[in-house]
Amino acid sequence: MNNSYHHIPVLLTPSVDALIGNPSGVYIDATLGGAGHSRAILNRLDKNATLFGFDQDDAVGLNLPQDDRFVWIKSNFKYLKKYMEYYKIEMLDGVLADLGVSSFHFDEDQRGFSFQSQYPLDMRMNSSQPLRAIDILQQYSEVQLTTIFFEYGELTNAKKIAQAIIQDRKNRRWDSCIAFANWADAFVYGKRNKWMAQLFQALRIEVNQELSSLEMLLQEATDLLKKDGKLVVISYHSLEDRMVKNWMKQEKNVDLIYGKKDFLFSSWSKHAIVPDEKELEENSRSRSAKMRVGIKA
Ligand SMILES: C[S@@+](CC[C@H](N)C(=O)[O-])C[C@H]1O[C@@H](n2cnc3c(N)ncnc32)[C@H](O)[C@@H]1O
Repeated sequence: MNNSYHHIPVLLTPSVDALIGNPSGVYIDATLGGAGHSRAILNRLDKNATLFGFDQDDAVGLNLPQDDRFVWIKSNFKYLKKYMEYYKIEMLDGVLADLGVSSFHFDEDQRGFSFQSQYPLDMRMNSSQPLRAIDILQQYSEVQLTTIFFEYGELTNAKKIAQAIIQDRKNRRWDSCIAFANWADAFVYGKRNKWMAQLFQALRIEVNQELSSLEMLLQEATDLLKKDGKLVVISYHSLEDRMVKNWMKQEKNVDLIYGKKDFLFSSWSKHAIVPDEKELEENSRSRSAKMRVGIKA
């Protein structure tokens, strides 16, 4: 495997333990990345099982597990149902999603994800989609930019940044990530690296429409899960974690006469599962990870 596509899997053992019930079942790894989770899942499944691995990034094609039980789907996971129809799969035993980007997205400078990159602001996981981060800076309105920086980046001076972008974009091209980061230095508060990471994360979430894809995945995965099938989601952003938590705890229907509630999931992680001390020491990416597990009712 090409070393640049390296990614250390987060919460590997707890997520695979939580995911697998039936060792001969049909499973989804919605976010293949470096395929660390997929390989661990395949190690735990028997010869009749199937694992479908989704990723919207072409580069992941270099990481595929060589295994007859594995099927690669180069697509956004929001199309889960469509692909399962195509493969004539009616029910799933488990779905794992380890959200966000892989380490190689930052390691590959020309992908334009990192605020230290000399290349243009791009940030597309799917390189065939038209919208890049620079297009957002050049085209979005003040209100749209403010919302992105405030909600996805949690930057309290979002409005000021948005106003300055609108003002300065007439004369500037921000022809690299570094150029934009240097321009944004005027708005930094607290630690620079953390602040820049939040600014760039906001753009990345918008470029890749990460929240709407997650919403669709939660719906479609839940529809396809068997009774007692598992939904396991690892997220790195409070907005995503909140979406997952609210999804898992929702009621299916309420009996108005007896007040009895039916839930979509018979059990779910009320408290997020987080990496242990050992993992936190070994993997800096694990620091913001939160995992939730739902068992379909
Ligand atoms: C955190 S990494 C997954 C790492 C993986 N679990 C491993 O062990 O190497 C997330 C991956 O999901 C992919 N991804 C993110 N959002 C996606 C989406 N909506 N559809 C398909 N793939 C997506 C990214 O391209 C990235 O490779």
